[in-house]
Amino acid sequence: EAIEKGGYPHFMLKEIFEQPRSIMDSMRGRLVAENTQLTMSSIREYATRFKNAERILIVACGTSWHAGLVAEYMIEEFARIPVEVEYASEFRYRNPVIREGDIVIAISQSGETADTLAALELAKAKGAMIFGVCNVVGSSIARATDAGAYTHAGPEIGVASTKAFTAQVTVLSLMAMMIAEMRGTMELTALRTLMLEMEKIPAKVEQALLLDKEIQAISEIFKDASNFIYLGRGFNFPVALEGALKLKEISYIHAEGYPAAEMKHGPIALIDENMPVVVIATKDSSYEKIVSNIQEVRARKGRVIAIVTEGDTVIPQMAEFVIEVPNTHEALMPLISVIPLQLLSYHIAVMRGCNVDQPRNLAKSVTVE
Ligand code: G6P
Repeated sequence: EAIEKGGYPHFMLKEIFEQPRSIMDSMRGRLVAENTQLTMSSIREYATRFKNAERILIVACGTSWHAGLVAEYMIEEFARIPVEVEYASEFRYRNPVIREGDIVIAISQSGETADTLAALELAKAKGAMIFGVCNVVGSSIARATDAGAYTHAGPEIGVASTKAFTAQVTVLSLMAMMIAEMRGTMELTALRTLMLEMEKIPAKVEQALLLDKEIQAISEIFKDASNFIYLGRGFNFPVALEGALKLKEISYIHAEGYPAAEMKHGPIALIDENMPVVVIATKDSSYEKIVSNIQEVRARKGRVIAIVTEGDTVIPQMAEFVIEVPNTHEALMPLISVIPLQLLSYHIAVMRGCNVDQPRNLAKSVTVE
């Protein structure tokens, strides 16, 4: 097992550090930005369906559901197709409206999650086209779909998903770009800029991983907290949910992820001098808004740990701790901003003596409902 961990103390840490590679592997052969070229044969094959799709439904569970939320924001922004993201367990039992022109995307690392499989079978029976985004080749979900695109994250052993998430977001980004190209909903120059940014993501993730020691030091300060709040807006909102989920899963600290502006409708009541609040506040179209949200937290003495874009001079003056990540296109930021959150949960869990790779009560794939 020590050999399998490749010198890392846990699979989770190894998998976090594998991300530059697994993201690259998930793009390989699919993207040549220089020529503004995207190749995903399964999407080409169903080009007419994607071009004319009136709606895309995404079904998934857990971390894969968070990747689905990122995809919702991207597909709507770039390809202008309405998207709904559903928990597979709810979808399958609530008699959802499914039309023949709908495309259902099932996202699953293992390809074996019972609820996701049942949700796609239901949609299939009602005439929708089913597209899979799975990591495990030949898995049940991969086999049950009409078409799909594999993530190439390699085997993920840690129960808490890390590299599978970024691989899913990578594949879903490429899908969003390709559908946008086919539908003509994006200017070619804008598409090319986005593709060039995508190609740079592995190197930027590598750079974000250098924050490890800094995050370890912050973890030491907050390891005994009993609650955490994670806030984000726009493309970083799903990242807030994912950060909170990672912390809950492996450190057993109660954590809530929220869209930053929703905070005032509830979680703000929890904020006092003992509450760590992780705010993902990178420079994007909602930057000014999230700066005000940080001020709201500070006014209530909350302890702000902010994830910011390199070179930000404003937030460091108001946050207690600042973690600087490299800049990219705002739609691709989740691939970078999630890295410090994965590391934070990992270090806190290790410091609390938790079983990081096999947290209590959780299974890697949930094959029963
Ligand atoms: C379990 C795992 C999670 C995972 C979820 C969905 O809860 O512990 O890490 O996100 O299932 O799994 P899937 O294989 O369908 O992505």
